[in-house]
Amino acid sequence: MKLGLPALHLLPPETAHAVGLRALQLGMAPAPGPATSPRLACKIAGLSLPNPIGLAAGFDKNAIAVAPLLQSGFGFIELGAATPKPQPGNPKPRLFRLSPDQAAINRFGFNNQGMEAIAERLAKPRNGIAGINLGANKDSEDRAEDFAKVLACIGPHVDFATVNVSSPNTEKLRDLQGKAALKALLQGVLEVRATLPKAIPVFLKIAPDLDSKALEDIAETAVATGISGIICTNTTLAREGLQSRFATEAGGLSGQPLFESSTRVLARISKLTNGEMPLIGVGGVSDAEQAFAKIRAGASAVQLYTALVYKGIGLAQEITLGLDEILQREGFANIAEAVATGRDEYL
Ligand SMILES: Cc1cc2nc3c(=O)[nH]c(=O)nc-3n(C[C@H](O)[C@H](O)[C@H](O)COP(=O)(O)O)c2cc1C
Repeated sequence: MKLGLPALHLLPPETAHAVGLRALQLGMAPAPGPATSPRLACKIAGLSLPNPIGLAAGFDKNAIAVAPLLQSGFGFIELGAATPKPQPGNPKPRLFRLSPDQAAINRFGFNNQGMEAIAERLAKPRNGIAGINLGANKDSEDRAEDFAKVLACIGPHVDFATVNVSSPNTEKLRDLQGKAALKALLQGVLEVRATLPKAIPVFLKIAPDLDSKALEDIAETAVATGISGIICTNTTLAREGLQSRFATEAGGLSGQPLFESSTRVLARISKLTNGEMPLIGVGGVSDAEQAFAKIRAGASAVQLYTALVYKGIGLAQEITLGLDEILQREGFANIAEAVATGRDEYL
């Protein structure tokens, strides 16, 4: 896969992604299995992970490459976003590679085959931890109800679920991050969780573009409702310091330029929740030192997406092994010991 990257980058980004996913499906990618060690093995919200390096949502929206992705080195993967009904998403082009910035801008708008098709694929037995990113249909009259529906349908077949109220590509979706709306939404989702055959962890995924008051409200609501943890963060609307000619495209920016702001939000949420709930750090991670930085800022596990576009799927294994070495170098016996040890540096 890594050797194929220059060729893939000659294709339009969305085509390249589809070809890459197909190659994965066909077994044309490294499949070392998730690396593990006593230092890397960890627990998050009751899930036992071989290592804390996960695949972020949006990479495999329709859950078509679950088994190969679980073999590529990740300790856990997140599929979706899934919405109740299938939907085509926004018109193309809607994905842009910002190579000089090691970044991407996407405005997909939850294109996916719908919860039923995705549930069927996830119902097959698998080896490893997989979760679903919950989304809402663009034309939905009750978005909160959509999240609950998708959880009821796919929840029995996954190990965790994520309430995604932070995609910038569905109009007004992020309004659900406001205090009252968020409380009602999370309560509704948790009621559905109580009806599942097994009480899987439910995480909340937030945007990086929130001010201090909004972060305080979210932390308070998350703790009060009893959700399992927070994923910090989704893509950003900010555009500072970019060089690529695609910098002014509308949508969410991911990759290197997101690292700093998403890590700051992570550290702030870590401080606000004071260790009361596990956090997952995502945004701009492209090497083991950056994964370690997320852990020091307060994350118990890490996810990534955009760096795979530039470095290939072998990156999962590379970061995991690199993180193991860093933990040893820094004298940590395990991930849990390292969590939030450098938080103040990132606030
Ligand atoms: C093309 C693309 C599609 C995405 N789709 C979703 C999605 O459906 N749901 C979601 O919660 N996040 C989605 N994300 C956001 C990622 O999961 C992640 O939070 C973000 O890209 C930051 O991580 P990164 O810098 O490692 O890419 C998407 C990102 C990209 C680049």
